[in-house]
Amino acid sequence: MANMKAAIMVRNLTKKFYNFTAVDNISFEVEGGEIFAFLGPNGAGKSTTIKMLTTLLNPTSGEVEIAGVNPIKNQDAARKNFGIVFQDPSLDDELTAYENMEFHGILYKVDKKTRQTRIEELLKIVELWDRKNDLVKTFSGGMRRRLEIARGLLHHPKIFFLDEPTVGLDPQTRNQIWNYILNLNKKEDITIFFTTHYMEEAEKVAGRVAIIDHGKIISQGTVLKLKEQTHSKSLEDAFLSLTGKNIREEEANPQDRMRLRHNMWRKNK
Ligand SMILES: Nc1ncnc2c1ncn2[C@@H]1O[C@H](COP(=O)(O)OP(=O)(O)OP(=O)(O)O)[C@@H](O)[C@H]1O
Ligand SMILES: [Mg+2]
Repeated sequence: MANMKAAIMVRNLTKKFYNFTAVDNISFEVEGGEIFAFLGPNGAGKSTTIKMLTTLLNPTSGEVEIAGVNPIKNQDAARKNFGIVFQDPSLDDELTAYENMEFHGILYKVDKKTRQTRIEELLKIVELWDRKNDLVKTFSGGMRRRLEIARGLLHHPKIFFLDEPTVGLDPQTRNQIWNYILNLNKKEDITIFFTTHYMEEAEKVAGRVAIIDHGKIISQGTVLKLKEQTHSKSLEDAFLSLTGKNIREEEANPQDRMRLRHNMWRKNK
């Protein structure tokens, strides 16, 4: 049944901020159980799209359905169906790992018994059970990200949105995080919708990919299809061939601008 209807349906979706079009008439579908990568340069419109899919932002026009539910009309029902890891950190530093989980579970009205067993299960999966009573402010970047992933899964969502889940993490932690996510995708048949700037990650895990640039989807399909379409050896080459090599600095927010500069500085070192 879960696979009968598209998990995510997006049709002619547009978001304008005053006279600037951040997301420009995009359409795509993601099937139940799929792992879908939403890729694009800085400022392309990825986070804006995710915000519209997850009730955080109202579209200017177009249609969206999440597990058959319209997230604009039925916010609460839609929220039950998905979990999310935001691009920006969103844990409470002054709470312990367990308390952060507990708080989320209460917000999502997960009953006490289920909460207890699910929190234990998830904290064990992300290898933070031993640290459950430590304040989050004592956690490393990788530990925080793992906790955010566990928290996003607490209410047994069908669809999991991850906006740059592995940014800034070392290769070991990135690899480990993908292992957890892939296992959950298999075990609980969760649909995965993620963004990343690490093309080799997307190439490894994504069943299908959509590439967005300047608010428009410029290509979508399997990794193989995108590589064939651009005569590229890797997804990174295909991505660069489709989106060009110019830096999108003028469109990036301050944090991203800093990241761009750091990357350029590292490359030129
Ligand atoms: N609230 C807002 N008001 C005005 N402009 C916005 C707002 N939110 C986003 N934008 C602009 O919309 C465009 C798309 O931003 P978005 O955050 O969706 O990009 P992104 O693809 O997630 O980029 P990144 O890879 O850097 O996270 C950018 O030019 C951004 O500056
Ligand atoms: Mg973003």
